[in-house]
Amino acid sequence: MKKMKVILGAVALAAVVSCSKGGDSDPVNDPPVNNPGNGSGDDSGDGSGDGAGTDPVSYQADIAPIMSSSCTNCHGDPPTQAAPMALVTLAQVRSAVEDRGLISRINSTSNPMPPDGRLPQATRDLIQAWVDQGFPE
Ligand code: HEC
Repeated sequence: MKKMKVILGAVALAAVVSCSKGGDSDPVNDPPVNNPGNGSGDDSGDGSGDGAGTDPVSYQADIAPIMSSSCTNCHGDPPTQAAPMALVTLAQVRSAVEDRGLISRINSTSNPMPPDGRLPQATRDLIQAWVDQGFPE
């Protein structure tokens, strides 16, 4: 009887220890603080899921400026620095998306475009949204 108690005690102790250990080594790092709050109406549109349902994106207003600040110093017309194609017009950018894997290259960690490091997530999301919206002008 006494032996049984000791064993139970040991088991209980082990359970407590391993449990608190697990808790410590796996902290929840991002408390869901800012999300639900302030209805500061920026994205009040048709929240259709995966980020593609955001505001309309336009080539002229959104995409061309990204290309000219981050891409056309190599992908100009004509291209330089061994870049294989230009990214100066809508048609050129569209064909790079469709035929040259532009989206996977801007998101690549091993072989990104631009070569010196990926664009900010928000910028890549904008390009993705433009593609998802069907390359609007
Ligand atoms: C420093 C010069 C440079 C910059 C800046 C640059 N590229 Fe490139 N890019 C290259 C070179 C060189 C290649 C060919 C070698 C390779 O594929 O890595 C290339 C290849 C590519 C390819 C693949 C083409 C194919 O047919 O395989 C894509 C797509 C591309 N770049 C998109 C972009 C985009 C989009 C940007 C801007 C966000 C950008 N690049 C910025 C130099 C550059």
